[in-house]
Amino acid sequence: MKFVAIVGSLRAGSYNRAVALNAAELCDPGIELTLFDDLRALPWFEHDVELAAPPAAVLAFRARLADADAVLITSPEYAAGMSGVLKNALEWIVGGGQLVDKPVAVITASPATTGGERARAWTTETLRMMGADVLPESLSIPSVGTKIKNGRVTDESLRTQLREVLAAMGRAAKRKAEPAAAEG
Ligand SMILES: Cc1cc2nc3c(=O)[nH]c(=O)nc-3n(C[C@H](O)[C@H](O)[C@H](O)COP(=O)(O)O)c2cc1C
Repeated sequence: MKFVAIVGSLRAGSYNRAVALNAAELCDPGIELTLFDDLRALPWFEHDVELAAPPAAVLAFRARLADADAVLITSPEYAAGMSGVLKNALEWIVGGGQLVDKPVAVITASPATTGGERARAWTTETLRMMGADVLPESLSIPSVGTKIKNGRVTDESLRTQLREVLAAMGRAAKRKAEPAAAEG
């Protein structure tokens, strides 16, 4: 199975990138999680450009998502909402439709005690509008600075929570694949 993680932060020392990298290591055998972690590659969303000819970076991003059995989003909260680069990336996917019926888990991580839950709520609302299957196991991680040291998730309960999110993604992806398997 293939999972793709979209990292909604451009910061070099991003906790949210660390969460995605640690999640990749916590996947069960047979599941490969790869990161799409440079949202700088995507130009600003422009509907005219999309209608004329979506840029190569957008086509590559869409192809990665289309090929994924499930998607993980790890993102900071900025100014009480979703990060701008993540919103821009999702706008390119609305017309492409690559997240329709796709299992998506949303994780926000923040040094604040709220864990970025407002960004998670907003991201969830946007994804649902796009037709994604947003998993209830999605997670907000408060006080993330106390749980990640030198890029490693050192907090055992967070490691367990990440495993649970990944397991939910696996179960949802399997459910989606079953009708196709039954047909042929
Ligand atoms: C301009 C700005 C706005 C921010 N707004 C919020 C916010 O509304 N809620 C929050 O929990 N953290 C907020 N933060 C703190 C971020 O959560 C923190 O910088 C976090 O580490 C960014 O994620 P990253 O480590 O993955 O880059 C803000 C940070 C900046 C620079």
